Amino acid sequence: MALRLTVNGQTHSLDIEADTPLLWVLRDELGLPGTKFGCGAGLCGACTVHLNGQPVRSCSTPVEMAAEGEVITIEGLGRGDRLHALQQAWIDHGVPQCGYCQSGQIMSAAHLLSTNPSPGRDEIVAAMTGNLCRCGTYSRIIAAVESVVAGEKAAQGEA
Ligand code: FES
Ligand code: FES
Repeated sequence: MALRLTVNGQTHSLDIEADTPLLWVLRDELGLPGTKFGCGAGLCGACTVHLNGQPVRSCSTPVEMAAEGEVITIEGLGRGDRLHALQQAWIDHGVPQCGYCQSGQIMSAAHLLSTNPSPGRDEIVAAMTGNLCRCGTYSRIIAAVESVVAGEKAAQGEA
C-alpha cells in the first residue's frame, strides 16, 4: 500500500503494509530509533509518540491510521538544536537511569503541558500513570515536570 506519512515535519512516501505498526515504520523505515519497543501491547508507554497532537502507542497503531496525519517523535520535540524544556529538565534532574522508557515519558509529559500548562502534582501523576519505568524514576520525572511548570510560571511573572 502506498501512503504518505509526515513525521517531525518531513513528509515521506512509503510502500508498506497498512497494518504495519507505526513504531516499526519510525524505527526501521525512517531511522528514528528514539522511540522504543517495550511491551508491544500498548501497556508500557515506551513507544509513545504524538499523532495529530495526541499521544498514541506507536507499537499498536497501524501505520495507515497515521497516513495523512502529523507524527511527532522525541527526535522532533525540540526546535532544531534547541531542546524542549522537558528534555532540558530531564537532564537537569538526572531523570534517566537506563533511559529506555524515557522518550515515551517525555512525550506523555509534553502532551500534558500542551493541554494543561500548569498542572498540579496530582494531574502530573495521573497523566504519567500509563508510562511505566522499571528503574523507578517516577519521583524524578515528577520533579522535572514540576520544574518546567515552575519555570513557565516564573517567566510569566506568576511565581
Ligand atoms: S511498547 Fe508500546 S506500549 Fe509498550
Ligand atoms: S529509566 Fe530504565 S526503564 Fe525507565
